[in-house]
Amino acid sequence: MLNSDQRTQFERDGYLVIPGFKSADALAALRQRAAEIVDAFDPSESRSIFTTQNQLTATDAYFLRSDNTIRCFFEEEAFDTDGKLKQDKSLSINKIGHALHDLDPVFEQFSRDPKLAAVARDLGLRDAKVWQSMYIFKQPGIGGEVRWHQDATFFETTPVSVTTFWFALEDATIDNGCLWVEPGGHRGPMRERFVRNGDDIKMEKLDSTPWPDDSVAVPLEAKAGSLVCFHGLLPHYSAPNRSPVSRHAYTLHATDGTTSYSPQNWIQRDASFPVRGFE
Ligand code: FE2
Repeated sequence: MLNSDQRTQFERDGYLVIPGFKSADALAALRQRAAEIVDAFDPSESRSIFTTQNQLTATDAYFLRSDNTIRCFFEEEAFDTDGKLKQDKSLSINKIGHALHDLDPVFEQFSRDPKLAAVARDLGLRDAKVWQSMYIFKQPGIGGEVRWHQDATFFETTPVSVTTFWFALEDATIDNGCLWVEPGGHRGPMRERFVRNGDDIKMEKLDSTPWPDDSVAVPLEAKAGSLVCFHGLLPHYSAPNRSPVSRHAYTLHATDGTTSYSPQNWIQRDASFPVRGFE
């Protein structure tokens, strides 16, 4: 699936952009299904807000119980001071997570794709295991930022193997909050580990190497249909979306089943709901 230049680039830079990976029809089907899930979502079920900036909301049981199901999360800036939505519900959701790929037929079809299985193999995943899916809305005007982090923080294996598959469902631009990465930064250390013990979760500092200066970050602008693959240790962030257009994306996180998956990772599976690959 990947040529030697693409494999070399991934090894050198820690990421790879593949334009035109998904058809317009496939994108439309996923967007339609996401809209239906949001439409069916009752906001009173939760006021859970996704943030990587403090531990308070991360401890929210709503988040923890979303590990192996399908739940909607609001943007941080979705509500006014009275706690009412400032805009329509459909424009207020930050993301849907975290087991769309196993529980929803439309998402499963998009995620279990022979082409994707081939890319994963070419990137070194001998026995891919897909732990997590997220539909990310990055809503116009209020789409929240996600500061520098490494995805391996959330999916620790020995040795490191987690690989991120990020699909642009709409054009991702600097204006609407595209990804920014530190090329080559995957050769640096893992800074943090997100650890779960029952319902107790915490972020542990592993290495004092600072996050990259924003000036070294490279924007990954990507046309709708592009697939961005990146190494679990690649530092990346995305800026807030202050533009009038959304930036929908879909992500999958896969590890190599031949490595050892930490029992302290926040998502665990057992025989009743086994983790599976891209096939
Ligand atoms: Fe990430």
